[in-house]
Amino acid sequence: MIKLTSPFLCCLWLGLVCGGFLEHDQNVLVPHDWRDAGWVRPEEELLLTFALKQQNVPLLETMLMKLSDPDSALYGKHLSLEEVSSLVRPSTETQKVVLSWLQTHGIRGCHSVHTQDFLQCSMSAEQAQRLLPGTRFHRYVRKNHSVVRSSAPYSVPDEVHPHLDFVGGVHRFPPKEQDLPLSPPQPKPSEVGVHLGVTPSILRQRYNLSSSDVGGASNNSQAVAQFLEQYYHPSDLSEFMSIFGGSFPHQSSVERVVGTQGGGKAGLEASLDVEYIMSTGANISTWVFTNAGRHESQEPFLQWMLLLSNMSALPWVHTVSYGDDEDSLSSAYMSRINTEFMKAGVRGISLLFASGDSGAGCRHMGKENSFRPSFPASSPYVTTVGGTSFKNPFKMSYEVTDYISGGGFSNVFKMPDYQVSAVDSYLKAAGSVLPPQSYYSPTGRAYPDISALSDNYWVVTNKIPIPWVSGTSASTPVVGGMLALINDQRLQKDLPVLGFLNPRLYKLQGIGLFDVTDGCHLSCLDEEVQGKGFCAAPSWDPVTGWGTPNYPELLTALLQ
Ligand SMILES: *[C@@H]1O[C@H](CO)[C@@H](O)[C@H](O)[C@H]1NC(C)=O
Ligand SMILES: *[C@@H]1O[C@H](CO)[C@@H](O)[C@H](O)[C@H]1NC(C)=O
Ligand SMILES: *[C@@H]1O[C@H](CO)[C@@H](O)[C@H](O)[C@H]1NC(C)=O
Ligand SMILES: *[C@@H]1O[C@H](CO)[C@@H](O)[C@H](O)[C@H]1NC(C)=O
Ligand SMILES: *[C@@H]1O[C@H](CO)[C@@H](O)[C@H](O)[C@H]1NC(C)=O
Repeated sequence: MIKLTSPFLCCLWLGLVCGGFLEHDQNVLVPHDWRDAGWVRPEEELLLTFALKQQNVPLLETMLMKLSDPDSALYGKHLSLEEVSSLVRPSTETQKVVLSWLQTHGIRGCHSVHTQDFLQCSMSAEQAQRLLPGTRFHRYVRKNHSVVRSSAPYSVPDEVHPHLDFVGGVHRFPPKEQDLPLSPPQPKPSEVGVHLGVTPSILRQRYNLSSSDVGGASNNSQAVAQFLEQYYHPSDLSEFMSIFGGSFPHQSSVERVVGTQGGGKAGLEASLDVEYIMSTGANISTWVFTNAGRHESQEPFLQWMLLLSNMSALPWVHTVSYGDDEDSLSSAYMSRINTEFMKAGVRGISLLFASGDSGAGCRHMGKENSFRPSFPASSPYVTTVGGTSFKNPFKMSYEVTDYISGGGFSNVFKMPDYQVSAVDSYLKAAGSVLPPQSYYSPTGRAYPDISALSDNYWVVTNKIPIPWVSGTSASTPVVGGMLALINDQRLQKDLPVLGFLNPRLYKLQGIGLFDVTDGCHLSCLDEEVQGKGFCAAPSWDPVTGWGTPNYPELLTALLQ
């Protein structure tokens, strides 16, 4: 094993094969908001996660697409965790090679998950640095939060390389703390039919949810997942419901918290997610996944993925407001996370991700700029939710693009079959108004898939009702709650739950959705695009997807 500090050097040496580096394209730069607090002591305990190579991944993908295609005989024939496990479980050889490598280094404290494709092991920093040549573990601090990571790339021995996808807990930092924008719009109080911002009853009116459109199946549930050091307060939720929940039957407390709720102030994001999934998905049992990884060397998002593989009974719908720049993550990591999404999808679990709050995004590369897709929003295996606002922010008028709504085309994942014709139609029709081709990959996975209002919300946090909260982290739980309501009706009719929605959503061709056709989202502020990314258009578009739910029609379409 040659020790080299730069993966690029390694690529040159090994003729682009990149022998010992599992994540040769992982960004190892320390984000600027983290301060280096120096080396960790050699005896300090780290908890690293080993993603073992799985079997039958192509078959898993084929199954996901069949199980999610309403025209397939296999539609809705979801698998149990046990069945997923026997499909993807790493080969005996993989398990043997990885375990004996760990044992040679004296590492024994490992925990596996049900699907046996992850190992999480505790070890000293000294052992970790010997196990993964190249690593230098430092502690990094941001506000009250500290993590342990290596700013230098890691390698593994050649004989172990084919048996691992990546090692978690070495590089990726917890996501940026996104301050949800508080953007006071200009009220026009003289007009008739004005409202004071988006509340549950405004959403329920706009999306045509009647007071009887609430959950009733005892075996239904929904979840929000949080990866920042953010907590919701049960008292905020009950106050929110007592102020805003008068017009519809609802629950005012969370059924189950998975993970550790810290003390301290409530987070705006956490309060928003739980308050709004329980407003559209009213009277449905709600779980909160919070701080799944509290150890300094864990990656919170990855930790949530491990939990999904280790719990046989899970809510059917999960909404997540988390994203990283696609270009900051290794392709090995992203494709493994995609496999994890497929594992959830074949079980009938719907995963919804916020599309992001930076429009098409912008990546500055010397003189050139390009758009900047966000992952997991750009994953072909999740449903991505964009954002809209009312044409007149204080009137229940029609919806237009919220200029922050994340959207665009993946630079990494190719366009999945289910969306090819919708995206082609958009590209053809948009023609000359499209941004220059150098800014995006028109053959990549295009997102978002669907959207909902994302502007001007009321949220109760730390006992205080706060107006003007905006972001696709608002629209995501709103759509999630409505899908959970549709699951509820399906469960009551003994139909399988919706699971991975996209193949079916694209076949609806917009039925059950309000098409959003006005407005463009933001992007690079350069001369070529002048701050404008893509624009909404009739049918599907990379700003608002197919549009926003018209619940009764969507329910009818998805109950068949
Ligand atoms: C998965 O669950 C099992 C059984 O509950 C537990 O022993 C194990 O530690 C869990 N794995 C991880 C990685 O937490
Ligand atoms: C950070 O720590 C300080 C002092 O220990 C404490 O007062 C503050 O509430 C903490 N902030 C958060 C967000 O936990
Ligand atoms: C749903 O809402 C829209 C506008 O909010 C309205 O035009 C329509 O008649 C409503 N009802 C149905 C069943 O679509
Ligand atoms: C709320 O859900 C429960 C089942 O979880 C059901 O028994 C009850 O009837 C529902 N309430 C309403 C008003 O539909
Ligand atoms: C879920 O509950 C409904 C009634 O609320 C019942 O009809 C259905 O069979 C149940 N489904 C499963 C999978 O247990």
